[in-house]
Amino acid sequence: MIFLKTEEEIEKIRVADQIVAHTLAEVGRHIKPGVTTLELDRIAEAYIRDCGARPNFLGYEGYPNSICASVNDVVMHGIPGKRELQEGDIVSVDCGAEIDGFHGDSCYTFAVGEISDKVAALLVTTKAALYSGIEQAVEGRRLGDIGAAVEETVTHAGYAVAREFTGHGIGMSMHEEPRVRNYGKRGSGMRLRRGMVIAIEPAVCMGSSRLVFDPDGWTVRTADGLPAAHFEHSVAVGADRAVILSSFDFIEKQ
Ligand code: MF3
Ligand code: CO
Repeated sequence: MIFLKTEEEIEKIRVADQIVAHTLAEVGRHIKPGVTTLELDRIAEAYIRDCGARPNFLGYEGYPNSICASVNDVVMHGIPGKRELQEGDIVSVDCGAEIDGFHGDSCYTFAVGEISDKVAALLVTTKAALYSGIEQAVEGRRLGDIGAAVEETVTHAGYAVAREFTGHGIGMSMHEEPRVRNYGKRGSGMRLRRGMVIAIEPAVCMGSSRLVFDPDGWTVRTADGLPAAHFEHSVAVGADRAVILSSFDFIEKQ
């Protein structure tokens, strides 16, 4: 079941996503060598609650924290803990918030201090892949157009999409239909309609896209140990353009 959203509902999702956007920026201000991922989680949770919102990851299917903090070879769903970030690491911070019955969800991969050119290029491509998918979130296009656009950007740069993980519809629940794959065939799949709100979230592996799970049941790593990046926006399908409800502006303009 796809829930088409009214303008008012889309504005409520935007409010949630803007809280997430500011939370990610606040977390970003604390990302430096020596900080633990659990400290980042505490900062995010406090910030979300100060905004009058609820961290919607916390308790979701038993998830123990308010953010996912995925370092280097961790592709996604890294559980915050005592690990200290080091110069040259990358950390994907995935974060969500619920306020007034509506959910936001966004993810940004941060560099810790100076990172290698090779890893920096992975971040650039992953973010570019997200935006190339977003460009397709227009009425009349299809889900396969989004997947194909993301996949082309990724494979053209010589990387691989983590195919087991997808984006999703978002609204009154964090995860709604449809599934938004990061690969696909142009002109295939569900037709996009105004009022659909989706989270597009490519995770991209520098090497092989083969993944392994940690015993905690959440943490997903690359099997080859090479780094992966993950960026996510919540997006409303528009009549002639996609409307991004989350934002990286507060992260990138600080
Ligand atoms: N952006 C992530 C996703 O859609 C958020 C879910 S993580 C969880 O998969 F911790 F909440 F499970
Ligand atoms: Co998501």
